[in-house]
Amino acid sequence: MPQAVRKILVTTALTYANGPFHLGHLVDNVQADIWVRFQKMRGHQCTFISGSDSHGTPIMIQAEKMGLTPEVMVAQMHRDHQADLAGFLIEIDNYYTTHSPENQELVTTIFERQVKKGNINQRVIKQAYDPEKNMFLPDRFIKGECPRCGAKDQYGDSCEVCGATYTPTELKNPYSTLSGAKPIEKESEHYFFKLQNYETILRDWTRNGHLQEQVTNKLDEWFKDGLQEWDISRDTPYFGFKIPGEENKYFYVWLDAPIGYMASFKNLCDKKPGLNFDEYWNKNSKTELYHFIGKDIMYFHALFWPAILSGADLRTPTAIFVHGFLTIDGQKMSKSRGTFIKARTYLDFLPPENLRYYFAAKLNSRIEDVDVNFDDLMQRVNSDLVGKYVNIASRCASFIQQYFEGKLSATCSEPALYQEFSDAGDSIAKNIEALEYSQAIRQIMALADRANQYIDEKKPWAAIKDPACKQEVQDICSLGINLFRVLTIYLKPVLPQTAAKIEDFLNISPLMWEDRVKPLLNHTIKPFQPLCQRLDKKEIDAMKTATQEELDKQASTQTPAPSQTPASEPIKETISIDDFAKVDLRVAKIVNASHVEGAEKLLRLELDIGSETRQVFAGIKSAYAPETLVGRLTVVVANLAPRKMRFGESQGMVIVAVGPQNELWLLSPDSGAQPGMRVK
Ligand code: 2FM
Ligand code: ZN
Repeated sequence: MPQAVRKILVTTALTYANGPFHLGHLVDNVQADIWVRFQKMRGHQCTFISGSDSHGTPIMIQAEKMGLTPEVMVAQMHRDHQADLAGFLIEIDNYYTTHSPENQELVTTIFERQVKKGNINQRVIKQAYDPEKNMFLPDRFIKGECPRCGAKDQYGDSCEVCGATYTPTELKNPYSTLSGAKPIEKESEHYFFKLQNYETILRDWTRNGHLQEQVTNKLDEWFKDGLQEWDISRDTPYFGFKIPGEENKYFYVWLDAPIGYMASFKNLCDKKPGLNFDEYWNKNSKTELYHFIGKDIMYFHALFWPAILSGADLRTPTAIFVHGFLTIDGQKMSKSRGTFIKARTYLDFLPPENLRYYFAAKLNSRIEDVDVNFDDLMQRVNSDLVGKYVNIASRCASFIQQYFEGKLSATCSEPALYQEFSDAGDSIAKNIEALEYSQAIRQIMALADRANQYIDEKKPWAAIKDPACKQEVQDICSLGINLFRVLTIYLKPVLPQTAAKIEDFLNISPLMWEDRVKPLLNHTIKPFQPLCQRLDKKEIDAMKTATQEELDKQASTQTPAPSQTPASEPIKETISIDDFAKVDLRVAKIVNASHVEGAEKLLRLELDIGSETRQVFAGIKSAYAPETLVGRLTVVVANLAPRKMRFGESQGMVIVAVGPQNELWLLSPDSGAQPGMRVK
């Protein structure tokens, strides 16, 4: 019986628009993308929403540091984040922003409904205030000496040296990280949401199958401590939405952020016929709503959010899926250890599907941290994807092409084996539905082993030598290709790009989950093309080196706000003339320049350096259109060790001048200089 079509809305945590995407941001995005692609393949109407979390003090301060208005910085980050998500093949139906008219309207309506219900309280509180910056200070902008061990420069909540936890008022010699001034205490009237009004509803909701068991247990601890009123306002200066009727007060970012899910969906509904906002958000909605988030923001999503929704007479989430943190080699990502890997840096060196597969192979429905170890990642990709999965097709396709003009057999020679593969789809689907991806991957790889074992047993390479066995070879290889096709269906949510290549190779329309039940018979396929490359340690090392270089550069350019930045940075260490002599700088002529597919900042340059032509990938796309560079002279570091990138090898580096806001100017000698000339 055909399954009823479900209407599903999925969100991932909205990303703060004050810094680049890093690997940690990818966990819920990859986890959700796999789930959404799976639901779509099952024929359900599934909509995937996300966007930028654009408000709050850290956004305002970061924009100030960059010499930009918050609006401009947020728009830039939004663009970069979208490019990174696309790079990882994360297909979000609407990537919007909380700084939008839809969100302002929704936040205001929801707030007014709470006021009517008596859920809002106003009272005066005392808070830390920076008397030089004239602003209230969130805890993270206050540092001082640990009250227990005396360690200097500790944040206001805990000591990184001795592990003590405390409040900012307990810090000794506290100072504002914005101005260095000693914070004073100042009074201000704030708005509070009476979370305790929803205690009964929440106790019930948190135990009724909407949450993982570990989350329910954690919430029980919070219930024991008693639910407190929640401060939903902030004083000026602040980047956010003004509270109606107030001149100097704004809604706290954490009130408008989850409402941003609704705003993003509303914006999509206004563009896409057939999607009805109210159908998804009304109190009695029959649609399903899922939020994928990290464990650090569980409190906001599992307590405040359902309470706010209930208070506004809206539906509550069907479920909240919480994942653990991303760790690298068992430890938190860290700038000092060189493991703070940006999404873009990863993409410059390694294929997105490798990380998607690795995450899938590790993720389950529990809140466990996801550890990335790049040697392990390489091993899994090479052994599972290249050695097992793709191997099935590459072993069979050449026979089909060479001896049967690409035609698959008209019948399935081993229906029982095919059936076994097709039937496994039910249990694999159950696992994906339940977020037990690692279990699903184990099942898929066991099937891949089984398919390879079948080919090993049948030995088509031996059978083809006997003319009487020709039909048998076609049958064996056709079955091999068909088993491979079923595995492709199961892996398609994880490896959408590879699946698209395979659909082309098999000469078929996009695969859906139910396509598993019928094999491809009497059908002509195209010649086999390589689908997935072995991963080389050199590519991983190059990505790690690039990360380290970025972090070193960042550390050395921690300068004051651009408005105060002098045109030139202070000169740091000196080097000897011998050190300088080691750098072989040459005049180069750009003979070709082009965009690099999938790279956000790079251009591919072909450089004539006199003795030879070199390929160099240069991060100058923001400043130059490739066609304007052709014929131009420039300067290249000719003896830089070549670096293997995802797009090919970079054989040198061009030299640019960098402005205070990272504007770029390519250096060029006067005309008349010849390619290959030494630059001294
Ligand atoms: O913690 C964070 O990174 C927040 N930007 C997540 C917001 S999720 C939602 F509420 F918008
Ligand atoms: Zn301490």
